[in-house]
Amino acid sequence: MVDVSKLVRESIKNLTPYFHGGNVWEISEKYNIPVDQLIDFSISTNPLGAPKTSLENIRQNLNLIQHYPDPDHEWLLEAFANFAGVEPDNVIVGNGSTELIYLFTEVFLESGYEAVIPVPTFSEYKAAIERFGGNIVFINCDSAKNFQLNIEELEKAISKKTRILFLCNPNSPTGWLYEKEDILRIIKLAAEENVMVFLDEDYIDFVDDSKRYSMAEYVRDYDNLFVLRSLTKFFCLAGVRIGFGIGSPDLVKILKNVRMPWSVNSLAMFGSVEAIKDKDFIKRSRLLLSNSKRQMREMFNTIPWLKVYPSETNFLLVEITRGDLNSTQLREGLAKRGLLIRDCKDFDGLNNKFFRVTVRRPEENKKLLEQIKSFGNQK
Ligand SMILES: Cc1ncc(COP(=O)(O)O)c(C=O)c1O
Repeated sequence: MVDVSKLVRESIKNLTPYFHGGNVWEISEKYNIPVDQLIDFSISTNPLGAPKTSLENIRQNLNLIQHYPDPDHEWLLEAFANFAGVEPDNVIVGNGSTELIYLFTEVFLESGYEAVIPVPTFSEYKAAIERFGGNIVFINCDSAKNFQLNIEELEKAISKKTRILFLCNPNSPTGWLYEKEDILRIIKLAAEENVMVFLDEDYIDFVDDSKRYSMAEYVRDYDNLFVLRSLTKFFCLAGVRIGFGIGSPDLVKILKNVRMPWSVNSLAMFGSVEAIKDKDFIKRSRLLLSNSKRQMREMFNTIPWLKVYPSETNFLLVEITRGDLNSTQLREGLAKRGLLIRDCKDFDGLNNKFFRVTVRRPEENKKLLEQIKSFGNQK
């Protein structure tokens, strides 16, 4: 017998995968509820589903899956560039935006250097650092300030060893949206110290007037900036896996040299190229979600043992303020009833008093709130 565990590279011996929302498969099996009868508030995707135009283009091109995906996909780079207000040579696509988090970290981080992460935030930045080596420097953001990053603290956290600063705007799971001026100040500060800024804008499409907040165009002026976007959330293409990144042409070239060949499949390309062109879908989604979020927040405010944090995107971070209930109990109680929420106990900087819910259609939000109330009353 070969003891395979002894042959594993030292640096990745102790890696364990992080927990994510959206695992409808697990809940379906555990509680014997068909997947299509679950309502998933745990993954922050658009409740309208993927645009029909996108699905239709996938269907029409199904016969092309006998070929490898187009390795150059100039047509897709052009479409993404157009959508983000940059040039095609500023764009790289990825197998979900997650691939680009790993790719970027692999390129810029190694043992002996540091990456700074303000928390709470998305866990895959940490996971990527653990895989490729280097130390993590967390900055704990204060709940009393709605988890806003304190820029003076950030200045102190950056050292000669810092290679990457990870930022998420709007941030998940807090929902906080930074103004352009704040992000710009951070990018300049990082540039002075030769630090790369990895700015995750996966939820920016949900923001009203997203162009006012996106930093995509600033890659022209700042070589140390890389902006991340995804088709998973707003365009609800989670299952085909596609995202893209925006950086200077030189940065994009370096990343492309390291990327695995054909990592993005043809169906993802065909689906996404139509999705981003669907102006009617974009308008309808924003309108639905802005009304629906208002309604959801108002309903949460009627439950005295819950505190809802401000959010400029399509999910709400909620804190349980009573002592006899935690987020894991609530998650399980709701899952039995076919409703999934994101238990935030595993986020650095949060604990088992926090959960995140996605804004869905008003009737679905209502059902969730009724069940939360009823579960709370039974405790
Ligand atoms: C903030 C953030 N960034 C990146 C991702 C990765 O998304 P994907 O790989 O599906 O594009 C997620 C997924 O939950 C996320 O919440």
